[in-house]
Amino acid sequence: MSKVTVIGAGNVGATCANVLVCNQVADEVVLLDIKEGVAEGKAMDIMQTANILNINTRLVGVTNDYAMTEGSDMVVITSGIPRKPGMTREELIGVNAGIVKSVMENVLKHSPNAIILCISNPMDTMTYLIHKTTNLPKNRIIGMGGALDSARFKYFLSIALNANPTEVEGIVIGGHGDTTMIPLVRYAAHRGIPASTLLPEEQLTKVAADTMVGGATLTKLLGTSAWYAPGAAGAQVVAAVLHDQKKLISCSALLEGEYGHKDLCIGVPCVLGRNGIEKVVEFELTATEKELFDKSAEAVHKTNEALATVL
Ligand code: LAC
Repeated sequence: MSKVTVIGAGNVGATCANVLVCNQVADEVVLLDIKEGVAEGKAMDIMQTANILNINTRLVGVTNDYAMTEGSDMVVITSGIPRKPGMTREELIGVNAGIVKSVMENVLKHSPNAIILCISNPMDTMTYLIHKTTNLPKNRIIGMGGALDSARFKYFLSIALNANPTEVEGIVIGGHGDTTMIPLVRYAAHRGIPASTLLPEEQLTKVAADTMVGGATLTKLLGTSAWYAPGAAGAQVVAAVLHDQKKLISCSALLEGEYGHKDLCIGVPCVLGRNGIEKVVEFELTATEKELFDKSAEAVHKTNEALATVL
């Protein structure tokens, strides 16, 4: 029996729960929200979908009743406010840091052995906050950003290449911010054929630029932060862990010297399996990539400084 709790039944949390149920990732899913009735309502709607799709995963929605989350194998944190058009993810820190900290206290009371997946923004900093306030082993705290950013990179690549999206390779490392993420153009490929040999440089540069502002573009179009891909990317990470898939997915991980950095969480390629982050894969960056990574790390460190009030 596997059990996953999703904290926060907003758009991202509910979508994550929906994908977890529809893809039968876990046997049991609990969706929890502080707002009276919201998690219950969304869970009921999703379970009626499950009935139509003939799916057996059980989902319950609860209002702030952490006892129902007891013994979860994995807990997904989506709590906090989303950004509005024109806002950066970093601007959410004041509100979201306090929320994530208190949510984590409740989560660990009932699921002390859970692997934690952080989606709340600013994601790298919230992942770091969870490390700082819980002292859990580093393999058990995962930040979701790179999985989402890589999906956006592959989407824009598939359009530029006019290729089947499932045949396109792309990975994004660095911070989960409009100016801090690093789409690794050098490794973008169509079935192993380097994208740099298939597309002119300007087009690849545009693909990378569109990827970096992928979230902001959607926030502008939708009036709030995106939810389908963020929720699905969360479910993808949960599946990789619970099913011990050993998938290589870019995630925000605590660095202790890898890529020349320490004491921060930032997007790096991670092998995900039943123990969470089983390995941070390190490879040699070019001088330009290293420079971008160093700048990205510096920006994430700077955002982390704002945690001083809650740590
Ligand atoms: C985004 C938010 C979820 O990138 O960070 O859409």
